[in-house]
Amino acid sequence: MRKKIVAGNWKMNKTFNEAEDLLFDIADLLKNNRPADVEILVCPPAIYLELSADIAHENGFSCGAQNLSQHEAGAFTGEISAAMIASTGAKYVIVGHSERRTYFGEDDVLLAAKVSQALKHELVPVYCCGEVLAEREAEKHFTVVGEQIQKALFHLTAEEFSRVVIAYEPVWAIGTGRTASPAQAQEMHAFIRKVLADKFGQAAAEETTILYGGSCNAANAAELFANPDVDGGLIGGASLKAEDFVKIASSF
Ligand code: PGA
Repeated sequence: MRKKIVAGNWKMNKTFNEAEDLLFDIADLLKNNRPADVEILVCPPAIYLELSADIAHENGFSCGAQNLSQHEAGAFTGEISAAMIASTGAKYVIVGHSERRTYFGEDDVLLAAKVSQALKHELVPVYCCGEVLAEREAEKHFTVVGEQIQKALFHLTAEEFSRVVIAYEPVWAIGTGRTASPAQAQEMHAFIRKVLADKFGQAAAEETTILYGGSCNAANAAELFANPDVDGGLIGGASLKAEDFVKIASSF
């Protein structure tokens, strides 16, 4: 179902005590300032998932992981399975973040398997797509994003696809302070919805939540979220400060 989501991707930040403080700060701020109809999601490092899921659920927000293994279980040292994530109470998992693609060599074939594995264990995959700067400058951004979606999501059944959230994150905007303009975000989100409509039908495309990510912050969230095809944000740096994060969640 299409809904508004503001998700915080903490990446590899925060020690245990810092994570706990941030979670309670978010919970405190939400007590007085809970945006209506917005799902608020924190995606901490996996080691804090159980803690985060507990605090999140007690305080009316949600918790997700940043990555998962494509394998079910077994001899995969250092990996974390979908079943393990689900067993902590986490409900979401980010799949295919550009940092996973760039630094850990994750490609669309692998990501297709990760998406399926997440769905198998009733986790909502937040599937990330987005072009690098050279691709945008060469005007290949629609082709690149279209292919990322096709290769990692088109194997899904209609029922499986209905549980997927998409995050468009232009790589040149991630952590750079250079955000996509509201028009650039809207243009790409509308394109993604069209790609989805061609495959899964117009109704399914309309029901899909498509988040924007990349230097989204408390100052620019409102103009990004005002676009008809932007259903919220996947927030990196600005999600590490409770006040900024909750302000972004209140920017619809
Ligand atoms: P940023 O990161 O908000 O720090 O640009 C977004 C992301 O990587 O999800």
